[in-house]
Amino acid sequence: MAPSRSRTALLSTLAVASLLPSASWAFDCKDVGADSVHFNLGKLAGPHVVHWVDEDIGRELQWKYNFTIDICDKLKWHKGGSLATECHHGTRVCGLREDINLATGGNSTVTPIDIAGTYASQNGRSIDAKFELLRNSKSNADGGREGVRATLNGGRFPFDDQKKGINQRAIIEFVCDKERDGLEGDEKEGGDLEDDKDSDKEKEKDGDDKKEGKLRRREDGGKGKCEDNDHSLRFCGYQREDEGKDHEVGTLRLEWRTKYACEDAPPVDGGSHWGFFGWFFIILFLAIAAYLIFGSWLNYNRYGARGWDLLPHGDTIRDIPYIAKDFARKVAGTVQGGGSRGGYAAV
Ligand SMILES: *[C@@H]1O[C@H](CO)[C@@H](O)[C@H](O)[C@H]1NC(C)=O
Ligand SMILES: *[C@@H]1O[C@H](CO)[C@@H](O)[C@H](O)[C@H]1NC(C)=O
Repeated sequence: MAPSRSRTALLSTLAVASLLPSASWAFDCKDVGADSVHFNLGKLAGPHVVHWVDEDIGRELQWKYNFTIDICDKLKWHKGGSLATECHHGTRVCGLREDINLATGGNSTVTPIDIAGTYASQNGRSIDAKFELLRNSKSNADGGREGVRATLNGGRFPFDDQKKGINQRAIIEFVCDKERDGLEGDEKEGGDLEDDKDSDKEKEKDGDDKKEGKLRRREDGGKGKCEDNDHSLRFCGYQREDEGKDHEVGTLRLEWRTKYACEDAPPVDGGSHWGFFGWFFIILFLAIAAYLIFGSWLNYNRYGARGWDLLPHGDTIRDIPYIAKDFARKVAGTVQGGGSRGGYAAV
């Protein structure tokens, strides 16, 4: 039966493919490996936002950028979103650029910029994440720093422009800072600042920080220095960088100070154990499902079985309630018997 074999092969291929966790088209933020050191960045999951304001005073133009990053998952669209204001599906690092024309009284347009992600079904580019330890890096600036640098690729702007489009990437340096979770001063999607407990003073200070940061950003943006504030996740530049052979790549640089980038970081609980059992049960379930489906199909084709007879061991499965009842009765009987005998022994 040739067709049966090919169909089984197809089935099992599908099953295996669905089992492989995000192999080549993503990475697991809970197990980031760099030069044989492993980091669990799972606590930094979810969308986080940084801002940058750039200006061309001469042309009276201003660009306000919001960069949203989720290192653990694809970014989700907002309700009623469209490609006019959202990055393509599969994006993990998205820039929203608001172009403001100061001359015409500040009318503005918003342009999404896909910076990093996997776009298998769109332009075929992928995030192709690379990680290296800061201490193993060639650059002098990294001397003495502990942590891991992630390079996430896949973006292009304009996205569909084969000729004029420029590839985009995000380079994130996770720097070890034992005092920080990594969410200090964090801004969630939607612009809510993470509230500190003693909020009012903090907020005021935060506001000042922000103003200062913005001023400074104007001077420093894109020159390799990070914005000057106390947030754990900071913007460090967005500009075109040469990648040899007249090849430019739009590069967003971020710095993320967190204890999870320390090489001796305490294990994050709830991680790998659940992961193992999770996989175990999924595999078990799929195996049983495959067995039942294939068995039924075989019975159907070979023996023309219908109804209960379709299932492999249909008889046994049908009898399970009776077997169970029988078993329960026996157990109950044993317990009762044992109890009464105990009673006699006491006399
Ligand atoms: C502002 O509006 C004018 C006219 O509607 C338009 O030509 C221009 O592109 C707009 N500027 C920006 C930055 O959107
Ligand atoms: C960028 O973020 C700010 C603050 O969260 C928000 O007010 C603004 O509308 C955002 N800009 C865009 C283009 O989404």
